Amino acid sequence: MDFKNELKNYANIVENELEKYIRKQDCLEKKLNDSVEYSLMAGGKRLRPTLILATYKLFKDDYSVCMPYAVAIEMIHNFSLIHDDLPGIDNDDFRHGKPTNHKMFNEATAILAGDSLLNNAYLVISENLKNNLTKENIECFHELSYAVDRMLIGEYVDTEYEGKQALMDELEYMHKNKTGALIRCAVRMGAILADAKKEDIDNLTNYAEKIGLAFQIRDDILSEIGDEKILGKPVGNDKKRKKCTYVSKYGLEKSEEELEKNINQAIESIKKYGNKAEFLTELARYIGNRNK
Ligand code: IPE
Ligand code: IPE
Ligand code: MG
Ligand code: MG
Repeated sequence: MDFKNELKNYANIVENELEKYIRKQDCLEKKLNDSVEYSLMAGGKRLRPTLILATYKLFKDDYSVCMPYAVAIEMIHNFSLIHDDLPGIDNDDFRHGKPTNHKMFNEATAILAGDSLLNNAYLVISENLKNNLTKENIECFHELSYAVDRMLIGEYVDTEYEGKQALMDELEYMHKNKTGALIRCAVRMGAILADAKKEDIDNLTNYAEKIGLAFQIRDDILSEIGDEKILGKPVGNDKKRKKCTYVSKYGLEKSEEELEKNINQAIESIKKYGNKAEFLTELARYIGNRNK
């Protein structure tokens, strides 16, 4: 398996699907729609939708039932990024190598573009539910709503801890929620949609929780030692804003150790799937080593 190629394939599938939801009409709200498109199509890695599809493919081949959730979770992820960058939250000026949404448009537009992405995610899902009222679709609707709630809680805790020292378990709580929740939800939705057995859903949830925490630890490390040009967002801003991160709490070396520990545990929890889980295994390694 050519991992990089597979990863690109998944991203392309998602990219093409998202395109269908971009509103291009000339209308009074054109600038709002442009602002949504600006962020949604800015070149994100599409990790969360990729996790849905790749998890589903552990069990079944035709992943068309996953597509509404792939779109919805990427919309919600981009909503979270637009709001995360706002002056009232992280006050960041660059993302994906371009001005952040509120810098490119204005604060009011960015707030509403975020709201619009959140609501459109639920529009996509409810439209799908209207036509396919299956048990799996109802479960995924709940999974996603729950994950968004946790993500928002994590973001809130993150802002509360600016300039303060969090305890070990408080920091873990923050990371597991602000970043881990959507990643966990992506994997669980893939498994649920494939009608996986409870034991499999549990194994995969374990995998997802480990890569979710690892993903944010790597994010903390990259904010300290990343290459701004590759990363597409500023390096050093966590420190400047006195953010509570794994690096500020434990230093770089210990953060690297925690990262590696979580990646290894993630890989361990899907070992029993053998070759079929090669992509998810490589994806865990990629999350541990990523530079962007
Ligand atoms: C960035 O997530 C925000 C975090 C949760 C750390 P990603 O790095 O997945 O964002 P994009 O979409 O690929 O830019
Ligand atoms: C972002 O966390 C998490 C969410 C948007 C939910 P960070 O604030 O640490 O991520 P970046 O570095 O801005 O992408
Ligand atoms: Mg933040
Ligand atoms: Mg941020």
